[in-house]
Amino acid sequence: MNINWGKIFPGISICKLGENIDTLTGLAGAMPQAERLNCFTESFAKAPDISIRRVDDKITLKMPIREGEYIYGAGLKFRSVQNEHKVLHLKVDHFGGVDNGRTHAPVPFHVSSTGYGLLIDTPESVSYYIGTAHRQDEENKPIPKNRNTDSNWQPFNAPEHIEIAINADSVKIVLFEAESLLETVQKFNLFCGGGTLPPRWGLGFWHRTPLKSTADEVMELIRQFREHDFPLDVIGLEPGWQSSSYPCTCEWSKERFPNPEKFIKTLKDQNIRVNLWENPYISECSGLYKKLKANSCSHMVWCGLAPDYTMPEVRAVIQEQHEREHISIGISGYKLDESDGFDSWLWPDHAEFPSKRTAVAVRNTYGLLFQRMTYEVFHKRDQRTYGLTRSTNAGGVGMPYVLYNDCYDFDEYTTAICSCGFIGALWCPEVRNAKNANEWLRRFQMAALSPVAMLNAWADGTEPWSYPEVAAEVRAAVRLRQALIPYLYTAFARYHFDGIPPFRSLVMDFGNFMDDTADKAEFDGTDNPYLVANRKEVVDQYMMGESIMVVVVKPGQTERSIILPPGKWYDFYSGRYVGDGEVISIHIGENDPMPLFVKDKAVIPFQEDDKLTIRRYGNPGGSFLLYEDDGETFAYERGKYNFRKLE
Ligand code: GAL
Repeated sequence: MNINWGKIFPGISICKLGENIDTLTGLAGAMPQAERLNCFTESFAKAPDISIRRVDDKITLKMPIREGEYIYGAGLKFRSVQNEHKVLHLKVDHFGGVDNGRTHAPVPFHVSSTGYGLLIDTPESVSYYIGTAHRQDEENKPIPKNRNTDSNWQPFNAPEHIEIAINADSVKIVLFEAESLLETVQKFNLFCGGGTLPPRWGLGFWHRTPLKSTADEVMELIRQFREHDFPLDVIGLEPGWQSSSYPCTCEWSKERFPNPEKFIKTLKDQNIRVNLWENPYISECSGLYKKLKANSCSHMVWCGLAPDYTMPEVRAVIQEQHEREHISIGISGYKLDESDGFDSWLWPDHAEFPSKRTAVAVRNTYGLLFQRMTYEVFHKRDQRTYGLTRSTNAGGVGMPYVLYNDCYDFDEYTTAICSCGFIGALWCPEVRNAKNANEWLRRFQMAALSPVAMLNAWADGTEPWSYPEVAAEVRAAVRLRQALIPYLYTAFARYHFDGIPPFRSLVMDFGNFMDDTADKAEFDGTDNPYLVANRKEVVDQYMMGESIMVVVVKPGQTERSIILPPGKWYDFYSGRYVGDGEVISIHIGENDPMPLFVKDKAVIPFQEDDKLTIRRYGNPGGSFLLYEDDGETFAYERGKYNFRKLE
C-alpha cells in the first residue's frame, strides 16, 4: 500500500487510511495552534521511508532505524526512556512494574533523535516492535553469525526497524519532521493544542488530607500549617468528601461537610484552593445515576456505572452537576482517579458501550475525556484549573492535569519525569510517607522540583513536619519552589506557546551526548543468557525550565556522580563553576538541598516575599523572557500577556 502524505503545516503531514476515522485528538477536542506551527521553517527528509501493509484486520507500518538513531516516546515509561529493542502493546492501565506499553499515558507517538516523530492518532490499541525481528523479504537483511564459533555474535543485528501494528481498519497518521528532537516534540505538542498553562496558584504547595477528614479537621490542619509557618496553596479532599464512594455519588457528605460553600469560602479567604477527588464510576445513591444508566457500559465497576464519556450528552450531565454543586461554589479543580485500571476491576475488552466504540477505545480515552469534561466547565467560566489524573493520551497536552500513580517507587518517579516530556504529559512524584527522615526529605525535595509539589496524606495522615528533624529542610525545599514560581510559570508559558516541555530528559536539550557509553554485556546463564547490552541513559537528572538541571539524590545517598552535558555549568546555590561536558563526583550532606546546576549565561528570576531578584550565572550577556499575565483566567488566549525581557 502507498502512503499519501498531505502537508498541513511546515514539517507536519497527515495520511488518512479508511473511512469514519476516530481519533484521540478529536476525542480530546485538541486543535492545532496553527499560527504558531506556521512559524516553523520547513524540515525536509528527516523521516525514513515508511511502508505500510494490511495484515488481517490490522494496519501495519514499517520504517528503518538508522545508524546512531535513538527512539523515545510511545507511552509513559518508568524504567527507561529509550526504546531499544522494546515491544510495547499500548493500553491504558496502572503501571504494573514492566515497561510493556500498559501505562497511564500510552500515547502512540514515537520520536527519533534524528528529528522526526509519528503520531498514530487512534484510540484503538497500537503495538510497537522496536528493533526486533527481521522479515524474510527484507532487502538488506543482516547476515546470521554462528554463536558457536563467532565471538561477535549478538542477539540484535543492524539494520533494525520499527514495526507498528494498529488494531483498526481506518486510521489517521501524523508525521512530524523538524531540525531536532526537541523541535519535533514542540511540533507534536503544538499540533495537539500547546501545553497547559496552570493557574499561578497551581504551582504552589498542595496537601491532600486523609480519606475521611471532616471540614473541622481540615480547618485544624490549616491552623497547624500556619503554626509551622508552612506554605499552603491547595487542599485536596479525598473520597470522604462524598456521601458515598467507590462508586461515587459526586455529592457532598452532609455529615463531614455540612456547609461546603462556607468551608470553601473560608479557605479561599486565606488564599487556599480546594481540589476534589473523584473517580469515573457512578453510584446508585447518586442523583446522576438515573440520568446516566442508559448510556453506560454493559459492565459495572465497583458495582457502579461506567458511563460512556465519549458521548457529549453523557459529559453534559456530569458537567451540569459539577458546575452546580462544586465549581460554582468555588471548587478549584479535581483529582481524576482510577480512570486507568487495573484489569481486575475494570470492564473486559469485549464489554459493550452505547457509542458502539470498542471497550479498548473507551478505556484508552477514559482519562482523556474525564479531563476534557471538567476542563470545559472551567474554561467556559474563564477560570483556570489544575488537577491530577491517573490516565491520559495523545491530545491531552493542553489539559491542566498531571499524572500520578500508586507505585511510590523513588527511581520510577524520577524516570517518569524524564519520560513525560516526550509524549505531552506531566508527572507528579507525590510524597506520601517515608521509612526515615532522609527519605522524607529527598521525596519532598523531588516533589518541589516537579509539576506539582504535593503531599498526598490520604492513607497515612502525614504532615510536612512529620519528621521534625528535617522539618526546616522540608520547609526550605518548598520555599525554594515558591521562589522559583516566576521561572516555572514562564516554563509553562513556553510549554503553551512554544510546545517546550517544562520538565524534560537531558537528550531533548543536548542530544545523545552519551553516544559512546553502551553498557558492556555480561554473560549470565539466568540474568543475561542472550548477552543483551543496553545503552546507558540518564534518568536521574532532568531539565526544569530553560536553564536549570535537577540532579536527583536518592534517599540514603551521600555521594554521586553527575553527568554534565556539553557547556559550562554552575552551582545554583553558590554560583560556583562546576565543569563542562564531563562527569563530576559530589558529596551530598544528609540534609543538603537537591543539587541544581545552571547553564552558562542563565538569567533566573527569584521571588522572595514581595521582592523579585534576578540571578545571573556564569558569563554576562544572557537574558530571560519573564512571562506575565493575570495568573487566573484565560485572558492570555485573548492576547493579554507579556514577555518581559530581563538582561
Ligand atoms: C487511590 C489513589 C490515591 C488515593 C486513593 C483514595 O487510587 O491513587 O492517591 O486518592 O485512591 O481512595
